[in-house]
Amino acid sequence: RSSAQLAVVSNRGAYTIQESYDRLVTRRTVGGLASAVEPVLHAQGGTWISWCGRIDNSGKDRGAKLSIPPGEPRYHLQEVFLSTEEHDNYYHGFCNACLWPLCHQMTERCSFEKAYWDAYRRVNQKFARITMETRKEIYWVHDFHLALVPQLLRNMSGSATIAFFWHIPFPPPDIFQILPWGRQVIYGLLGSDLIAFHTARYVQNFFDTVACYYPARIYPEQGLIRLHNRRILVQAIPVGINCHRFEQLAADPAVRARAEEIRRSLGAEKILLGIDRMDYTKGIPERIRAMAYFLEKYPEYCGRVTLLQIAVPSRNGIGEYGVLKQEVERLVGEINGRYDRTYGAVPVRYRYQSLDQAELVAHYLAADVLLVTALRDGLNLVAKEFAISRIDGKGVLVLSPFAGAAEELHGALLANPFEPAHLAAKIKMALEMPPQEQKNRLESLRRTIKNRDVRWWWQSNLKLVKSLVSGLSPAS
Ligand code: UDP
Ligand code: G6P
Repeated sequence: RSSAQLAVVSNRGAYTIQESYDRLVTRRTVGGLASAVEPVLHAQGGTWISWCGRIDNSGKDRGAKLSIPPGEPRYHLQEVFLSTEEHDNYYHGFCNACLWPLCHQMTERCSFEKAYWDAYRRVNQKFARITMETRKEIYWVHDFHLALVPQLLRNMSGSATIAFFWHIPFPPPDIFQILPWGRQVIYGLLGSDLIAFHTARYVQNFFDTVACYYPARIYPEQGLIRLHNRRILVQAIPVGINCHRFEQLAADPAVRARAEEIRRSLGAEKILLGIDRMDYTKGIPERIRAMAYFLEKYPEYCGRVTLLQIAVPSRNGIGEYGVLKQEVERLVGEINGRYDRTYGAVPVRYRYQSLDQAELVAHYLAADVLLVTALRDGLNLVAKEFAISRIDGKGVLVLSPFAGAAEELHGALLANPFEPAHLAAKIKMALEMPPQEQKNRLESLRRTIKNRDVRWWWQSNLKLVKSLVSGLSPAS
């Protein structure tokens, strides 16, 4: 084990920390980044530097150092504190009201405040300082919250080995350039030795964007950028999942029994499932409206089909997220009031909660169709987890072409979430798909997902960055 070598740094880690009666209590977080990164540290050991949800206004920059997971420690967690001002201006502000909507191409939701940018710079400096103190051989920085960290680390140690993974979409340059501090963000990222994205499209967008700021130094055909006598490799390496774990859960008799129980209690012939963080990028209202359209157009399905929507609470302090929750809850009430004509299956069942992995897999198994209707999504791990969990060869994945996963998952039924009629038609097609076609499509999906699982993902990233610094060509 090379446990001394790796420092991972991200805004959100796999755990939040809360103080309860003088004890620190850790809780798992929900999100694609946490799902992807946790297995690396679990296998390799090392230190994960992250904010764990606690606010501290005393001027201290760091909190607890814990061995994680509790009970069977595999790696260290170094907690970073945010002050109230940083939480408002960096996390809510620059990260979630500026970069997040910008990268998801929802520019009307962006607000570009100078105070946000100032806080972003300060918090990135804080993360970089704490990271550098770990003195590891490899620094692996994650996501849009910490784009300036690679260059800051590079300034502190010219010879540091730095990889970066961008977990959300990277937009085309005409969108990215709207950001008043776009050049600084790109420069920050270019401190890395390797910058990786989920899809070839995001890589292309990144090259095109860098070209706007640094025209002479781009070699897209080699996946390379040259800057200040340094080579920076830019690659598409989509995140994978822990296939073994999901298959194991799917085969567990207790999980299967729970799936049966969910089916029985919903009392529907057919179950459509949506599982997402409550986020405006996920297309939850669009999905519910398409369900209404579907029941209107195909009334023979009224009372026979239920859409079960699990929405995981997310970014609660941000106004837009509260507005979305209200909209979703209003739509659920409206469609149930209108289409629950038979007192059979309820059109939409809705839970505003997060599920643990066993419960999640039970839901995947209980469904006939998974609806991923993201308006824009970096990848979407839920789509991969659903397909891998269906060891029974049953179930259909309806997938938005605007989720990064669509670049890989050719066995899915693609459906445009912006067009209710089209989505409703795809829902019908999915519900009526013959068993053999379901099986064939799932087999294709499962092959693709297994070829590039989560171990493949982190090993590819770490091998590449190591080969670069040891002077080997990335291909060798
Ligand atoms: N997830 C979970 N419990 C839930 C819902 C989701 O643990 O109730 C996990 C899910 O297994 C997946 C991640 O959260 O690994 C969501 O990742 P995804 O890429 O789909 O979306 P993101 O939240 O990153 O936008
Ligand atoms: C997405 C982002 C992650 C983030 C997660 C949850 O997956 O790529 O960086 O951690 O959403 O959002 P939160 O704001 O709660 O960290």
